[in-house]
Amino acid sequence: MSASPPQAAPTRLRRTGALTPQGLDEAMIRRVVDHFYARAREDDLIGPVFRNAVPDDRWQAHLDTIADFWSSMLLGSGRYKGRPMPKHFALTEIGDAHFKRWLALFRMTVNDICPPDIAALFIERSERVGNSFRLNIRLHRGDDLVHLEPLEREELPPRVEPGENF
Ligand code: HEM
Repeated sequence: MSASPPQAAPTRLRRTGALTPQGLDEAMIRRVVDHFYARAREDDLIGPVFRNAVPDDRWQAHLDTIADFWSSMLLGSGRYKGRPMPKHFALTEIGDAHFKRWLALFRMTVNDICPPDIAALFIERSERVGNSFRLNIRLHRGDDLVHLEPLEREELPPRVEPGENF
């Protein structure tokens, strides 16, 4: 049995049937998204991917989409209507190193912003989604999945303090 995250008083049901920890709301999701992408955009490895794919004038809309994605995932709001895989298939330069960095920066961000039970929930979901995106991308590219090792956690990179977009 896997260890459960620290317990907080639950509030309402998510679509998964699990209970949403108290304090997790749209405002917290928005803070996580804004902080994470400000950091991601300045990162030496994944920053260039974002800067190439999402021009400045689409950046705000991108953040709104991502906030909808997490709101659907964690609060069951149903606001995200997109199809993320084709967007990621188009990013031909991304590989395991990008996923590991993405996940490490995400962990750093939620640990900075959220209480421990909520951070644990974000991390668990990000790793599940990240691994499934990675497998889908590899399948799409025709890679051999039989001998694929699971993604390992990257040590947190040196802290990147977000700049003017923070
Ligand atoms: C690991 C977990 C990841 C999650 C949960 C995630 C989630 C998402 C979502 C929900 C979208 C929006 C798709 C839409 O517009 O409907 C998106 C777009 C995007 N993601 Fe990811 N992503 C992940 C990993 C990555 C990685 C590793 C990269 C590259 C370093 C990346 C780069 C992008 C870019 C550039 C877009 C915008 C594509 C476009 O609008 O043209 N993502 N992601």
